[in-house]
Amino acid sequence: MSDPYHLGAAADLTPVPDQLHDSPSWVYLLREFEKHYRLGSDGGSRAIRAHRRRVRETLTAVIDANPAIAQRDPSTRPVTAHLPRAFDLGKAGVLSGMARALERVSDRLSWEYGYQKVPRALEKKYAYCEIAGPQGPVRAERLVLGFVLFAPNTTYPQHSHHEIEESYVSVSGAWSENETAVHAPGSLILNRPGEEHRITTGRFDPVLLAYAWVGPDERLSAPGMKFSRTRKARMEQGI
Ligand SMILES: [Fe+2]
Repeated sequence: MSDPYHLGAAADLTPVPDQLHDSPSWVYLLREFEKHYRLGSDGGSRAIRAHRRRVRETLTAVIDANPAIAQRDPSTRPVTAHLPRAFDLGKAGVLSGMARALERVSDRLSWEYGYQKVPRALEKKYAYCEIAGPQGPVRAERLVLGFVLFAPNTTYPQHSHHEIEESYVSVSGAWSENETAVHAPGSLILNRPGEEHRITTGRFDPVLLAYAWVGPDERLSAPGMKFSRTRKARMEQGI
């Protein structure tokens, strides 16, 4: 017998394939993404304008298609101890709607590392959760949406994404990419396929970033996350 209301252990534990439109909290969170990618500025950059359009058009098609929700087991990582502070900061910032919408589903999030072997220096400093993509929880093709959380005073080593175009949208905290600027809530940073990037976070507060990946389905299903093998990156990973 199915358990459409998720009443718990007494019921059949088989995951129930809800549809997106039966899960308003997921819809509101996706709409926060769509709104930001539609209304945010491109700063005069043609590449960012094209990326924003690609993300929001793909996302609008996902929402309209009313895909299945793949229930994942909620999981935490040590860094999620910083999540309440990240929500507090996010709710006081320009992306407060995004922070609130994520908080509403925070008991359903599956935080993970994405690497077979996580550098020891990062174990307590970082994790990400997916919101939409080939793996769910909202089933989507040609697009992955998620959030990444960093502890204060973190260096996330240099990496790039093969065939995947990535943007980060800053929700909470202050951070820098490639030591070229300080990004505040509301900023969008575009990393085109293959572009190397390295992230550092400020000393006192966590950083919560929303991210969007667009690219070929087969790559989004198996992105093969790897750090770049630069000397600096090897040193940062302690290998
Ligand atoms: Fe990245």
